[in-house]
Amino acid sequence: PVGQRYEAETAPAVCQGTIDSNHTGFTGTGFCNGTAAVGAYVQFTVNAAQAGTATLGVRYANGASSGAARPANVVVNGTTVGTVSFEVTGGWSTWSTKSLTAALNAGSNTVRLEPTTADGLANIDRLDT
Ligand code: GCU
Repeated sequence: PVGQRYEAETAPAVCQGTIDSNHTGFTGTGFCNGTAAVGAYVQFTVNAAQAGTATLGVRYANGASSGAARPANVVVNGTTVGTVSFEVTGGWSTWSTKSLTAALNAGSNTVRLEPTTADGLANIDRLDT
C-alpha cells in the first residue's frame, strides 16, 4: 500500500557497506553508509499492490565537504531506469528526500541505488512509497 516505509537497515534491504548510527536524524535504528566505490549499492524490496508508476522518496544525507553530489543509477528489477544526483544537504546529520518515479510490478520489486562515482552513495536512511 501507499505509505510504506522501507528502512535501509532492515532486511530484506541490502546495504553494501555498513549500517551506521553516528549521525543523528535518521529513522529506525541507522542508515546505510555505502562503501566508497562505484556500484556499491543499497537495495530495497518494494511491494506494490498493483502494477503501475510509483513515486518513491529516498531519504538521504550528503555532508561531503567537497560539495560534490553522489550520483546513483536507479535499477528497478534489474533494469537501469534513471539517475538521481543526491546533492549535498549541508551536513551528514541534515537529511533530505529525493523523489523518483518508477514502474513497478504487482507484488515484490527490487529498487537498487548504484553509485556511479568512486565516492559511493550518500548516506541512505530509507525509501518511502
Ligand atoms: C564521513 C561520514 C560518513 C560518510 C562518509 C562519506 O566519513 O562520517 O557517514 O558516509 O563521510 O564520505 O561517504
